[in-house]
Amino acid sequence: MKYTNVIPLLHLGALALQTAAKDVTEQTKDSFEEKNGYSVTKHEKNINLQANENSIGLKQNMVEANVQSRQKDESCSALDQARRLEVPKAKGTIDAEFEHADFWDEHGDLIKLAWSELSTSNSNETENAAISNLQNIIHPSFYSAVEATHRNPTEANEEVIWSHMKEAGPPGKSQAYKTQLLTDEGLRLLRSELDRATSSGILMRRPNAMNRYGCIIDREVNGAVSLPTLTSLVKTVVSKIGRPLGRMLFADAVGEGDDCEYFAFTIRYNAEEDLELKEHRDASVITLNINLNLPEETYDGSSLYLVDDEKPLDFDVADDYEEERNKRYSISFDPGMMLIHRGSTQHAALPIKEGTRHNLVIWVFGAGGDVRIAPYEKEDWLGVSERWGK
Ligand SMILES: *[C@@H]1O[C@H](CO)[C@@H](O)[C@H](O)[C@H]1NC(C)=O
Repeated sequence: MKYTNVIPLLHLGALALQTAAKDVTEQTKDSFEEKNGYSVTKHEKNINLQANENSIGLKQNMVEANVQSRQKDESCSALDQARRLEVPKAKGTIDAEFEHADFWDEHGDLIKLAWSELSTSNSNETENAAISNLQNIIHPSFYSAVEATHRNPTEANEEVIWSHMKEAGPPGKSQAYKTQLLTDEGLRLLRSELDRATSSGILMRRPNAMNRYGCIIDREVNGAVSLPTLTSLVKTVVSKIGRPLGRMLFADAVGEGDDCEYFAFTIRYNAEEDLELKEHRDASVITLNINLNLPEETYDGSSLYLVDDEKPLDFDVADDYEEERNKRYSISFDPGMMLIHRGSTQHAALPIKEGTRHNLVIWVFGAGGDVRIAPYEKEDWLGVSERWGK
């Protein structure tokens, strides 16, 4: 067992992870280095307990709240009722995962019903069919390389996928890669469905502990957008692309079961909303970060940077360690571009100077929110058919 349990999540807990992971990773890494053997480390933050208590306590509230609102207003649709709720404004930008949690848990069921009403009421079947087909959305040559590798998982086919991946971040460190993922048509479809959600009048919970603007895309989380068009697209992107690609790119870090769950959300940066994002690590084994700007929606600033905080391989006590580490590698997003990086890589978003940047972020992690940190021995790496098969 080489697991490091960061938090049991029930998805709700995932909100807690983003900033928690920073300390946890630091702490875990230190203990690993001390022990010199990558054995099991469990962090002892009581955020675990907090998450558990919250989610258990909430279920009951949820049911009661729902019964009450039905009795109060039976004539009214869930959509109308949800639109009448007064949304508490997201404020905190650090450790704010449980901000207004009571509100979202109290109204979570009503909001889910409202999304389900919206999905059947004003939707366009042609567009729904188009968005459900990856072939319409994913860049054609990348799509066919991925399809070919699923059909026939060989290293030769993986080579074609590798040729689409450009290393980002510290060179030669295999921390991050980028590729053109979405077509313009894919961007248009995705954004038009997200705009339909945003303009629906249904309340949306803040996406995570640090970002205040955007939404969670999830069927379970209270306050998330649960439109089936979006939840199933995210699911397909993770299972067809994100998970196998993560296993291929970061073979030392991702084993069977380390990537079976995910948490997806959109984020938005502009002068009136969130400007930037402070340095942090994600509570994920791998993170997919996909730019959703339309080609005509230009913006300035807002590059992501990755921090190289690994000890150099040829590290010598005589070297200036501080100078070697903490180098920043900046990455700017083009429309439809995906950055895929290790969750443990420290990163941040620089202030936006003009326009708006829209991204879809997916954290991938293990069952119950486990985030594995220790690397695998090479003989334990998944083989090519385990990466792409089944
Ligand atoms: C549905 O979407 C298609 C494709 O974008 C569009 O041509 C059509 O006019 C839309 N139909 C309705 C009823 O809005």
